[in-house]
Amino acid sequence: MNKELLHKIKTNFGEKFDTKPLMIFSPGRINIIGEHTDYNDGFVFPAAVDMGIILAIQKSDSIISTAYALDKHEELQFSLDELKPSTEGSWENYIKGVVAEIQKSGKTIGNFNLVFGGDIPGGAGMSSSAALENSVVFGLNILFDLQLSKEEMILISQKAEHNYVGVKCGIMDQYASMFGIKDNALLLDCRTVKSKPYKIDFKSYQLILINTNVKHSLSDSAYNDRRSVCESISKMLDVQALRDATINDLKKIQEQVTPANYQKALYIIQENERVIMASKAIEEGNLNVLGELLFDSHNGLQNQYKVSCDELDFLVNKAKSNKHVLGARMMGGGFGGCTINLISTEHTNAFTEDVAKNYKEKFNIDCTVHAIKLSDGTKIIE
Ligand code: GLA
Repeated sequence: MNKELLHKIKTNFGEKFDTKPLMIFSPGRINIIGEHTDYNDGFVFPAAVDMGIILAIQKSDSIISTAYALDKHEELQFSLDELKPSTEGSWENYIKGVVAEIQKSGKTIGNFNLVFGGDIPGGAGMSSSAALENSVVFGLNILFDLQLSKEEMILISQKAEHNYVGVKCGIMDQYASMFGIKDNALLLDCRTVKSKPYKIDFKSYQLILINTNVKHSLSDSAYNDRRSVCESISKMLDVQALRDATINDLKKIQEQVTPANYQKALYIIQENERVIMASKAIEEGNLNVLGELLFDSHNGLQNQYKVSCDELDFLVNKAKSNKHVLGARMMGGGFGGCTINLISTEHTNAFTEDVAKNYKEKFNIDCTVHAIKLSDGTKIIE
């Protein structure tokens, strides 16, 4: 965890509110494979990382609550009785959304102050938003003794995202951030919301992220559109979710859907199968197969589900043409953010230096490289 950031947040809270805060760290996440399968009740393979949100929070005697975003130097004051969403795209909705959903669940909280900051670049597709939501619900649960289980907390975070932020996300991000286990990735069944930890032996390989440092603006509406396509095709198939459909089922209604939507549903069914195949490859220690599955996943996201972008495709193509990279794909919702790469540790520097140079030449933007450490989920820190 980022000691410097921790110190800054603690000091800032002390200066502003003059009480001793409860300190919480809530991580971002990576996802090895299983993209857009979570809201189809399918499988995903995420892990919490050692980057995320640090939150200082404490009860307040005041008649209002105050939240301060250290990175943005912005303050929000609000009354618990008159909550309504702020402008679209504002960080304020993550805080207010969580408070509103706690209240909707029938629990009562009092006023509070908080200061937060993070070290995940926004738009990286590493779920800084889920990390923030989780940190707030986790903190309020302790301060006001709400007796919420972790399972209940992540549902509150997810509903905040649905109702205040306006993204109809699945449960992967909130789950991974809350339930992460050091050195493990989690094979999560998004229907039962239960996971199996995998301690992966990457041998002489490692996972690295390359951030495109772009976030194309259509991402939220495109996300919700994809979700509704999946839901309408599930209805036509008379199944609860695409998780329950086979490729043969889908073929039977092929004439009734547009070719584009057919491909989207097909992608989901295939991606779900890829997650299971990936878990087997990991169990067998077969990193080559895992790598191939990553490339296939990207291919589906790019050409069938259509949530990639030129910058992501460029990075994945670079990875494909380098024999030391076993696999790579875009990660997260899409339209920007990071690629995840399974690469030989020995050749990582040469690869990333070459890619960075080419990327800059092509897009006139710097990409950034992150080594990742699989870490524990949301927790109290000193
Ligand atoms: C975003 C959402 C998740 C998931 C991914 C795509 O991160 O928040 O629920 O759907 O996109 O896999």
